[in-house]
Amino acid sequence: MTEIHYEPLSPEVNRDPYPFYEQMRREAPVHRIPSSGFYAVTRYADVMRVLKDPEIFSSSAMRLMMMSAMTGGIQNMPLDLDQIRSEREKVAEQLAFDPAMFLTAQSVISSDPPQHGKMRSIVNRGFTPRRISDLEPRVREIARVLIDGALGEPTGSFDLVRDYSIPLPVQVIAELLGVEPEKQGDFKRWSDTVVSAASGSGAGPQEMIATFGEFTAYFDAVIEQRRAEPKDDLISALIRAEQGDTLTSVEVIMFAVLLLVAGNETTTNLIGNGMQALLDHPDQLEKVRADPSLIPGFVEEALRYDSPVQVLFRQATEDVEVAGTKIPKGSIVLPIFASANRDDDQFPEASRFDITRNPQGHVAFGFGIHFCLGASLARLEARVAFEELLGRVARLERLEADAEYIDSFLLRGPKSLSLRFEAA
Ligand code: HEM
Repeated sequence: MTEIHYEPLSPEVNRDPYPFYEQMRREAPVHRIPSSGFYAVTRYADVMRVLKDPEIFSSSAMRLMMMSAMTGGIQNMPLDLDQIRSEREKVAEQLAFDPAMFLTAQSVISSDPPQHGKMRSIVNRGFTPRRISDLEPRVREIARVLIDGALGEPTGSFDLVRDYSIPLPVQVIAELLGVEPEKQGDFKRWSDTVVSAASGSGAGPQEMIATFGEFTAYFDAVIEQRRAEPKDDLISALIRAEQGDTLTSVEVIMFAVLLLVAGNETTTNLIGNGMQALLDHPDQLEKVRADPSLIPGFVEEALRYDSPVQVLFRQATEDVEVAGTKIPKGSIVLPIFASANRDDDQFPEASRFDITRNPQGHVAFGFGIHFCLGASLARLEARVAFEELLGRVARLERLEADAEYIDSFLLRGPKSLSLRFEAA
């Protein structure tokens, strides 16, 4: 057995984490990362085991993610428990508005049963299949306007990330939340700050604090308005829940923040990673261009092959053994979804990108009680994004050979992707 050098924040892992995952799956399926003491879990069966057992593997550790989004960066994310505690205190000191409410407010992603079930059933109401499928014409319209802007000439170049895959989900979420058109510019700016902080590519703590102040003031006012005059939007649906005494105003705001963090950059990365995979496999690009009915299958395969959310957090609530390795109570456990999705025992020839395979069972959206609330929205956005884009171009090629990836080991996607196009 060779030494394992999986260091989540290293440039090598950022560039290409898959050889590291493969080595861990083969040689140390539960690997204690020396620098942080976190336990990386890499095989499909073991990742499932972690996700299926919220009593032993608590999601309270997910507050880390929300906290790092609120304080300026996953790249600065505390990597040991003492640091986490002191970070929590630091955040409390820095926030100008009442910080305790944010740090103690429950969020669906960081809660465990039975609290989780209560919150989930409330937020579910905003994400009914009908509400999502009703969005399709509007998502298509947004995609078309963005493409018109980016592909104004018969031939030229554009940045897929900046011009298309970032603005599309932000605008969809803004509309879902019922943000008025005249406020959407501000909303985009707040969202950019949160997202750039979460991905470690920009905003520092001061900017984050200012942004959260504006965001909170705005949504406080919106909540007041919707109380007086409910509309058919997500905020109104959440307020109806609030009046049933189940969600506080702070929890409504926290949920809006969670949607920004959980719903925007993930979808951006799915579109970016999907495009990268197609450009790396021209035969697959040809296939999907020739037959757009293959797009939903391609989107699933892209989710499996290069997962936008690579890994998340759990915390062991008792001493537990996984794949022969003892994990002490209190340890932070990292179920690596992207590694499970490349496990040959689950997906034959898992490192092959094949849009016609059956990738069912992939865990790109997680599994079990925390299964992604926005999965059908993300699928809808990605499908429409590719239907619209591939229908408009006769040729697409990269302007630069190597894309830089966002500075995060939790999320994976290109920072930018400059493409030369010829219109169809
Ligand atoms: C390609 C895009 C997306 C990916 C890959 C993704 C991935 C995930 C994953 C892996 C989880 C499980 C978290 C866990 O087990 O701890 C999750 C949960 C969640 N996602 Fe997504 N997500 C995406 C898009 C979205 C969108 C568009 C939204 C909302 C608009 C959203 C909202 C949520 C929420 C609220 C949760 C927490 C659910 C719970 O804890 O019960 N996600 N997502």
